[in-house]
Amino acid sequence: TQIIDDSARAILKTNDRGGYTVPNGRVYPFQWNWDSAFVALGFANFNRDRAWLEIETLFAAQWDDGFLPHIVFWQDDSGYFPGASVWDAHENPATSGITQPPIAASMVRWLWDSGPKSERETKRMAALYPKVLKWHRWFARYRDPEGRGLVVATHPWETGRDNSPEWDQPASRVDISGIGPYERRDTSHLEPHVRPTKLDYDRYLAIVQFGREHCWDHDIIARTGPFRVADVGMTMILLRANRDLLALAEALGRRQDSAEIKAWIEKSRAGIDWLWNDETGAFCSRDLIDGRSSAMITSASFLSFYAGVGTEKQRQSLIAHLDRIERKINWMLPSLDPDHEAFDPMRYWRGPCWAVVTFLVARGLLDEGESAWAERLRHDTAALIRDTGFYEAFCPISGRGTGGDQFSWTAAMWLFWAG
Ligand code: DGY
Repeated sequence: TQIIDDSARAILKTNDRGGYTVPNGRVYPFQWNWDSAFVALGFANFNRDRAWLEIETLFAAQWDDGFLPHIVFWQDDSGYFPGASVWDAHENPATSGITQPPIAASMVRWLWDSGPKSERETKRMAALYPKVLKWHRWFARYRDPEGRGLVVATHPWETGRDNSPEWDQPASRVDISGIGPYERRDTSHLEPHVRPTKLDYDRYLAIVQFGREHCWDHDIIARTGPFRVADVGMTMILLRANRDLLALAEALGRRQDSAEIKAWIEKSRAGIDWLWNDETGAFCSRDLIDGRSSAMITSASFLSFYAGVGTEKQRQSLIAHLDRIERKINWMLPSLDPDHEAFDPMRYWRGPCWAVVTFLVARGLLDEGESAWAERLRHDTAALIRDTGFYEAFCPISGRGTGGDQFSWTAAMWLFWAG
């Protein structure tokens, strides 16, 4: 374990660009929003100062209205597409125009709670707190256009689960006729069969083009954009993040903020049932344009435990799905139900296991008293990393690595949780 611990620390140090960490130096050479939040937990294992700095640097790229971009282009790198000029969203620093799962509040809370709560660290927490609150206000203001207490994703990249089959149908109505020629860079670093398809990319770019043409007006994008899906992942993550933000607000004695955050939590708790698909027996994402449920069980479906929602019957149904899935594959937790026809065990978010989502699900299971399942998820993640290396993701059948290697958030999950 000592050797693996050292390797994990070495990966974070190698991927450190001074104040922020790249997910992987070749495939993802910039700062990514939710990657950085997870990475902070890894740094907390050996350098708490650096852990705080990771999140502080991310929030240094926050827009005036509270929006926090999914990529911050702190420097140029031609090894990634689409780069800053394609987004044309913001300058100094250049950023993308979409956001990502709002996990930062939870990481700030974890960081603070796991530390000495010294005056120094409490000051850093207190300085981040209003920025995180502002981001959550942005979600409340822009990302719940129907007032359901759910999060609408306006681009598959926002969900972090880029090519999940959940997005196939909603993205199929995106008009790709205006897409000019472009050159992907991801497939020059990685085998095409582990990445999204050309059709996926055409759609990704068409949605980016829509945002750019509307000068990244998030009100227009969330109300009229070509892709609008209530994402079960972002919704569960924001619900938990609001609970964590509430704990910080209370620790800081912010009574008025607490009332505001509590109202968001209540609204989400009441609205979440709209994502429950009774036939599937799981929480699934739902297209806001035609109201249809994806009817798919993904790793995000199990984040309901992490969010602390679901009736007893719903929880039992989800646990039964875990039992069934576990018998079909060798390593938990696959990003898609292996019984689904779209299951593809090596292709990005269509089957592989991702340590970060597995961690969140395991944490939720533990919180909700399902400790045997939580331990199984931790055990499998540790075995995958130990046997295969710090890959971006892992095949749930063979255990092989898929995507980039020397991956920052996988190293962080080893240090904070699995190892
Ligand atoms: C990519 O380029 O694959 C990223 O996941 C987008 O955020």
